[in-house]
Amino acid sequence: MRDILPEEIPLWEHLEAVAASLARHRGFREIRPALLEDTSLFTRSIGEVTDIVEKEMFTVLRGDSSYTLRPEGTAGIVRAYLQAGYAKTNPVQRLFHVGPMFRYERPQKGRERCFTQFDVEALGSLDPRLDAEVIHLAACFFEALGIEGLEVRMNTMGDGEDRDRWRVALREYLAPLLGDLCHLCQDRFERNVFRVLDCKNPQCKELCAEAPTILPYLTDENATHFGTVRELLEKLGRKVVVDSGIVRGFDYYTRTVFEVHYPALGARSALCGGGRYDHLVRDLGGPDLGAVGFAVGFTGTMLVLEKLGLTGERTERVADAYVVTASEALTSEVFLLAEELRAVGISTVYDLDGRSVKNQMKVANRGGHRFAVILGTREHEGGVVQLKDMHAGVQDEVPRDRLAKEMKRRLDAGEMN
Ligand code: HAM
Repeated sequence: MRDILPEEIPLWEHLEAVAASLARHRGFREIRPALLEDTSLFTRSIGEVTDIVEKEMFTVLRGDSSYTLRPEGTAGIVRAYLQAGYAKTNPVQRLFHVGPMFRYERPQKGRERCFTQFDVEALGSLDPRLDAEVIHLAACFFEALGIEGLEVRMNTMGDGEDRDRWRVALREYLAPLLGDLCHLCQDRFERNVFRVLDCKNPQCKELCAEAPTILPYLTDENATHFGTVRELLEKLGRKVVVDSGIVRGFDYYTRTVFEVHYPALGARSALCGGGRYDHLVRDLGGPDLGAVGFAVGFTGTMLVLEKLGLTGERTERVADAYVVTASEALTSEVFLLAEELRAVGISTVYDLDGRSVKNQMKVANRGGHRFAVILGTREHEGGVVQLKDMHAGVQDEVPRDRLAKEMKRRLDAGEMN
């Protein structure tokens, strides 16, 4: 599990800000659902026969209850949507969230056990414009970060009738190959045959290469929906590759599914995955409404930013002022002066290491603070301070009671330049 250290925060804030700004621009509102949910929420929504539920959940037992750290955001957001009563009061909800998810995966490049997702969920509508909207939003996110060379791959999973016919075809195709599939897939064949299609085992992958796709079995309605989404994206100038290999690893998907890949990353090239999950609201106790969404993983996104040299020279924010004193007798005064400046919005720090004045000045300088505020015994007695403006390289004696105003004036002027 990763710690995000202070030096890394500027880049993280940048990603979070781009995500929030693009989402809000399209009417998505931020939601912050719980980190821990009843385990049954995930088994019911993601599906019993999936990698996540079978192998990757961090679960704690308390008394008779079982809770799981969220491995993904969709199920919790739907639970929150229902609990808030939106399904009845205001069913169409565009929601987004940026936050940590937890999966007990084998840690490797691009995969972590605690990772951050930008999660976008549009609930309450079956309209194909919404599919196109979220796919476009996912692609815009990467473009806003300066990432080029991405591939948007999409497919349809059908729904109901066509899915049933595809299941039969798939089972017929795989039945004679059963002995060559991995033992997990032999079980999947019985319990949830679609999961065989996203097995990572190379032999299973090879055997599935020629497996029937859903396309010939699609109902007219679902084929039209798929066609409309593609057409809308084309009209936006958005290139999309139809890839029948995309089946996604969750049971809740229906119809449109998609992934955004950065092919140069190799086997783990998906930076984003999503699709429709039209019956999840119903399956979790609400009406049958329709919904579509995606999640972008920040881990992979940052790998690509690094690869492309796009992490930028983002510097950490530092305090505006550093208070310097030579006198041990003035330590309380330094504390009070710092609080006085903080109270009017000037971020301020001071020495806690007992450094000499010379070293305090060095630290103030290296720290990149705009001001050093020097409070010596003489200044204290005279009701003044020395204000050193590090940017301008000038030092002035300023009365204590005019200090904050003077600093604010210079900070505001700096912002305008
Ligand atoms: P997912 O494909 O499991 O979908 O995850 C989305 C993205 O999260 C992946 O493309 C990947 O970039 C990133 N990701 C997944 N697992 C890890 C990991 N262990 N370490 C680092 N990054 C990871 C979902 O989670 C769905 N809830 C997406 C969705 C939302 N569908 C509809 N709405």
